[in-house]
Amino acid sequence: MSQTDTETNETRPAIVGRGLSKVYGLGRRQTEKALAADDPRAAAAAAGGYLGAHDIDFEIAKGEMFVVMGLSGSGKSTVLRMINRLNEPSAGELLIDGEDITQVSDQRLRQLRNNGIGMVFQHFSLFPHRTVRENAAYGLKVRGTTRSERLEKADAALERVGLGGRGDKLPHELSGGMRQRVGLARALAVDPPILLMDEPFSALDPLIRRDMQDLLVELQAQDQRTTVFVTHDLNEAMRIGDRVMVMRDGRSVQVAPGPEIVAHPADEYVSEFVADVDRARVLSAGDLVRPPRLVLDEETSRADALTRLGENEVTGAFVTDAEDRLLGVVTADRVADLSSGESLREALGEPYEQVGPDDVVGDFMQLAGRQVVPVTVLDDDGRIVGVVPRAAILSALSTANGASAETKEVAHA
Ligand SMILES: Nc1ncnc2c1ncn2[C@@H]1O[C@H](COP(=O)(O)OP(=O)(O)O)[C@@H](O)[C@H]1O
Ligand SMILES: [Mg+2]
Repeated sequence: MSQTDTETNETRPAIVGRGLSKVYGLGRRQTEKALAADDPRAAAAAAGGYLGAHDIDFEIAKGEMFVVMGLSGSGKSTVLRMINRLNEPSAGELLIDGEDITQVSDQRLRQLRNNGIGMVFQHFSLFPHRTVRENAAYGLKVRGTTRSERLEKADAALERVGLGGRGDKLPHELSGGMRQRVGLARALAVDPPILLMDEPFSALDPLIRRDMQDLLVELQAQDQRTTVFVTHDLNEAMRIGDRVMVMRDGRSVQVAPGPEIVAHPADEYVSEFVADVDRARVLSAGDLVRPPRLVLDEETSRADALTRLGENEVTGAFVTDAEDRLLGVVTADRVADLSSGESLREALGEPYEQVGPDDVVGDFMQLAGRQVVPVTVLDDDGRIVGVVPRAAILSALSTANGASAETKEVAHA
């Protein structure tokens, strides 16, 4: 195990990939030659092989939900399967909790696959003649746990995925969505520190798919398990991923949190890719927040308050207490009506709309532009994080072709 001085068990990334490449169909010499060429993709193809992934870098934190997203054939599964070496990397380093697994013995690799890294595929291969419970317990079999312990853990996992009480059923007695839950339960029963998921929900109907996404988000909130999740569905990636790696033609073109990818696509390709995303559900108040124009301490005198309202050309100002907590909003009119000696507290009462940093735009956009101050973003302690002006919402929701959300709305009306 390699460990640097600055890294501790907690801060060390769960999975690190450095310069990972995969060439299919060529021997070692030809692979090396292709990867050293100016255009490895063309060189691999010219030699009769195929460049599945090229020079991929990533660092996945412990507990992170890391999504690999791209069109079919972009190399997502290639990258995922290198992490447990179902695919031998042709070049590069792969560290699992600091251990370079491209170098480990077969025995250590087996151990990692059995205990350390779970995997969930699109098509779970459930055993048709075994009960749901036995299917869920399957992953524990290779670990030498007793039968009663296995079944107990399987039942607990089935409970977690909403299949409590269905352990005695056979797979064919369940719907497609429920069968996927059994596959998920099978992975959860082993409780591995790392979970790899390759398009697990891609074969499901949209509504069931959404349910499964919700379930995964819920389980992840409880477990904070390091998970690498492959999907070709952008909205799915945005819904469940802490960060998303966008792949194109075997390359990683951007790694960032979903909202950042939508707000700042790395290139034209990503920008076109995200053009159709439901921005209102991806972007949150925290992504669009701006500093408030004017915040007045409650001790500010009537005269000073009026001066600053005038200087800042605002119709309303926030008033905070000594701990910077928001007390309310005042307008110039209300401040002007104060008699000298009265504090700004007496002028409060102007309505305002407040949201949290994680609230998505779609849930509060209709509130924007209604009050004298923009939608106000407060933290858990009631302090002002900032504001989201209506203009910021409209510009963030405008699509790549320049049509703003507002004109779209009008066009649909
Ligand atoms: N075992 C293999 N042998 C040859 N080519 C492969 C193999 N596996 C994948 N490929 C090719 O590598 C490319 C990337 O595949 P894959 O990683 O499965 O993409 P994705 O999961 O994004 O759809 C595809 O063009 C695919 O045909
Ligand atoms: Mg794939």
